[in-house]
Amino acid sequence: MNSDLSLDFLTVVEQAAIACAHTMGQGDRHHSDLAAVEAMRRSMDAVPMNGTVVIGEGERDEAPMLFIGEKVGKAQHDSGFYPEIDIAVDPLEGTNLCATGSPNAIAVLAAADQGGLLHAPDIYMEKLVVGPSCKEAVSLDASASENLGAIAECLGRRVEDLVVVVLDRSRHKKLIDDIRAAGARILLITDGDLSAGISAAVAGSGIHAVMGTGGAPEGVLAAAAARCLNGEILARLVVRKPEDEERCRAMGISDLKRVYRARDLASSESIIFAATGVTEGTLMQGVRFFGDGIRTHSLIMQTQPHQVRFVDTIHVRGKSTETLVRF
Ligand code: FBP
Repeated sequence: MNSDLSLDFLTVVEQAAIACAHTMGQGDRHHSDLAAVEAMRRSMDAVPMNGTVVIGEGERDEAPMLFIGEKVGKAQHDSGFYPEIDIAVDPLEGTNLCATGSPNAIAVLAAADQGGLLHAPDIYMEKLVVGPSCKEAVSLDASASENLGAIAECLGRRVEDLVVVVLDRSRHKKLIDDIRAAGARILLITDGDLSAGISAAVAGSGIHAVMGTGGAPEGVLAAAAARCLNGEILARLVVRKPEDEERCRAMGISDLKRVYRARDLASSESIIFAATGVTEGTLMQGVRFFGDGIRTHSLIMQTQPHQVRFVDTIHVRGKSTETLVRF
């Protein structure tokens, strides 16, 4: 995949973030999501690629835009077609976070060579996300206490000094009890395990692991980020009802008990991952509006060449003569 596309994808997530940031705190998560989806869809058409959405807003009959299978991008140039690329999007990860003005809502996109991202249905996924030094030390089948001991050893600190992010859900009662019993600190979040998963792979973020069950699409996006950050996600689909099984099989998944690693969920050698902060966050600042412009903060990463960039953009509106840049 042409790494020059990274700046095009940066624009796509910036535009999605700006659009939904206008709705911050208005209490309408669907409105926030729609604003992000429409802006992302619009800006995607300017990207020189022959893209196919493999992780999107839902299946064709449930989502008007960015549905699974939708073709995106310019597709053709004067002398032929642009390369085929698979696209995974979450135009607004943390719709409730945006609607309530809470931290860590982000706009996200990952791109890979065709076939390089797992086509995961929108069902739950059991996840364990850790940073680079812990990737070989943890297991999805080990107890929380065993994993925490291993993470602490890899990071050269005590279990009591670890911070584990867990979605605040009743399904996590036992997990939370186990983590508390092991002595680690817990950051309970209302939403946004993808954003937390990215942070877990960044040293100094103050987050050492993410544990628990969340969305499978967010798991594939977390894997794309982990590939760029040398982090790790261990994951297993949660098949609760026959309908979940049918959806997996329809997407070509036959081993329903498989434990996936980042390389299995995002297998392409060439991956681009882009995210822009919508509300204030652990790694990225939220969108800031001022008289003559808008300021966005993004993370844009790729595996070939292997680069991680934080991008602070000032989008100038109108013919401004005012001071635009201030630290
Ligand atoms: P949305 O962006 O669709 O609102 O999802 C946010 C999220 O919290 C994810 O980060 C997480 O993986 C999933 O929802 C958890 O699902 P549930 O709310 O059903 O527990």
